Amino acid sequence: MSDRHITRRIRGTDTSDGAGVKLKRIIGQPGLDMLDPFLLLDEFRSDQAGDYIAGFPEHPHRGFETVTYMLAGHMQHGDNHGNRGDLVPGSVQWMTAGRGIVHSEMPQQEDGLMWGFQLWVNLPAKDKMTAPRYQDIGPERIPVVHPADGVEVKVIAGELAGAIGPVEGIVTAPVYLDVSLQPGAALTLDLPMGHYGFAYVFEGESALVGGERLHRSELGVLSDGEHLQLTGDDKASRLLIVAGQPLQEPVARYGPFVMNTQAQIHEAIADFRAGRF
Ligand code: FE2
Repeated sequence: MSDRHITRRIRGTDTSDGAGVKLKRIIGQPGLDMLDPFLLLDEFRSDQAGDYIAGFPEHPHRGFETVTYMLAGHMQHGDNHGNRGDLVPGSVQWMTAGRGIVHSEMPQQEDGLMWGFQLWVNLPAKDKMTAPRYQDIGPERIPVVHPADGVEVKVIAGELAGAIGPVEGIVTAPVYLDVSLQPGAALTLDLPMGHYGFAYVFEGESALVGGERLHRSELGVLSDGEHLQLTGDDKASRLLIVAGQPLQEPVARYGPFVMNTQAQIHEAIADFRAGRF
């Protein structure tokens, strides 16, 4: 049977976004422009308030989805349609921006650790102008499974060991798993054939992905295949495994707008300026 392996390794670049939040950009930078359908992956992690306190004040989005997974810290989300949501540790917000929202994500703490991920998932042409939709998922709704000795997995999207992730109705049929591996623990994951995917180690020193060592803060792009072998290294580790159906459509991208053509980008800018979001 076909096993997935690492075809490319990428390290994030240090940057800042919003009103000066320091973060590591892993997808959406010169080393890895995108990994269809994923347009961006940021890890924000700091216990220095100055690195995050200014947050992400009001900004627009159109044409894709933003997925925030909080590991530590507390942010409050709000948009121009009156939607409010609390992003607490362990929670996930899957926001389908669709035809457009203007939102903000602001820290609700003045000190302590703020840690999490934001992933951008593209929408196909037919869904770019869909109505905005939120899936705000508290930590208690995310199933935790132990598919093998020394392995714990939070199933955010997709299916594993009889558990189904709470994120539903996403067009790219994503898999989003938070995998903790004790030293030497081993797991074989089934991933849908044809999905593009990646592994990203965010705790510990390294893990073995498809038999190869992947270090902390390193993203491994996965080959296609039905299975992925994960093995804990000498120390405990934790990694994201994310996969989705590629769209294979043209991408026109300008900051927070991701469409198929330049004309649609111009339209997005005009609509935003005219208050039509
Ligand atoms: Fe945003």
